[in-house]
Amino acid sequence: MKIVVIGGTGLIGSKLVRKLRERGQQVVAASPSSGVNSITGEGLADALNGASVVVDVTNSPSWEDAAVLQFFETSTRNLLNYEAAAGVRHHIALSVVGTDRLLASAFFRAKLLQENLIQASSIPYSIIRATQFFEFVKSIIDFSTEGNNVRLPPVLFQPMAADDVAGAIAGIAMGSPVNGTVEIAGPEQFHLDELARRDLAARQDPRQVISDPRARYYGVEVTERSLVPDDGARLGETRFEDWLRRTAQQPSKMSAAGTSAAKASS
Ligand SMILES: NC(=O)c1ccc[n+]([C@@H]2O[C@H](COP(=O)([O-])OP(=O)(O)OC[C@H]3O[C@@H](n4cnc5c(N)ncnc54)[C@H](OP(=O)(O)O)[C@@H]3O)[C@@H](O)[C@H]2O)c1
Repeated sequence: MKIVVIGGTGLIGSKLVRKLRERGQQVVAASPSSGVNSITGEGLADALNGASVVVDVTNSPSWEDAAVLQFFETSTRNLLNYEAAAGVRHHIALSVVGTDRLLASAFFRAKLLQENLIQASSIPYSIIRATQFFEFVKSIIDFSTEGNNVRLPPVLFQPMAADDVAGAIAGIAMGSPVNGTVEIAGPEQFHLDELARRDLAARQDPRQVISDPRARYYGVEVTERSLVPDDGARLGETRFEDWLRRTAQQPSKMSAAGTSAAKASS
């Protein structure tokens, strides 16, 4: 069975490609850096030739409102058209738990549009909604930072390791389409503000977290349960503290300039 991972060089894509190959699958890791572009269509027909399954784990290079909407709409339409022509039998896309509760953000409007296009297509599909990755917590903190303060709402939060996200997608890619949505999440629930405090403490980062019920999550107003899945979500195994212990010693990748760029583009 040939499986094509669009976005196969990204955080999730590269882990997914490795896991599928370990399980003996024939996998193509497709992305612009390997000559496959879901926006222009370049290389797509060749990459999809003979494929049974396509996994879309792309992300928009820009999160600016118009750009992110255009990215997910164009990319998803192109993928579904090329897949129909190639006879692909299972389209899988990675989305986000709570997407429909976060529509004040253009990013989540784009993800919902992506989901709607997939549901309306003729190709059997599985939409996987994941909670925030452990690896993404630092971006949330950086986005919410003013000076030395990090202002975050004390809402429920159930993040998961990128490794577990990739493992869950691999399992679904090797099974039958669910023609619906599956939620995946981490094994434990936290409060977002408290988790950020733990993350900063482990990295000896001096920033102070201020718990503020009116603070926004990535610019969006949230309620207690906006970010957590319903009952029945499939849970990863990796615990946040174990992951944090392993990664906290690694040097920080996001500079102050990177933080400003992320804010400007959101
Ligand atoms: N962050 C979270 O906590 C979270 C939670 C739930 C779901 N998600 C979803 O997970 C998905 C993957 O996230 P990620 O963090 O793994 O993304 P990422 O690391 O930013 O990787 C994005 C991938 O998309 C590829 N790409 C960009 N433009 C493309 C194009 N025109 N054609 C084909 N491929 C293109 C990139 O290729 P190059 O390397 O060649 O540029 C890269 O392989 C996203 O859709 C996101 O919404 C994220």
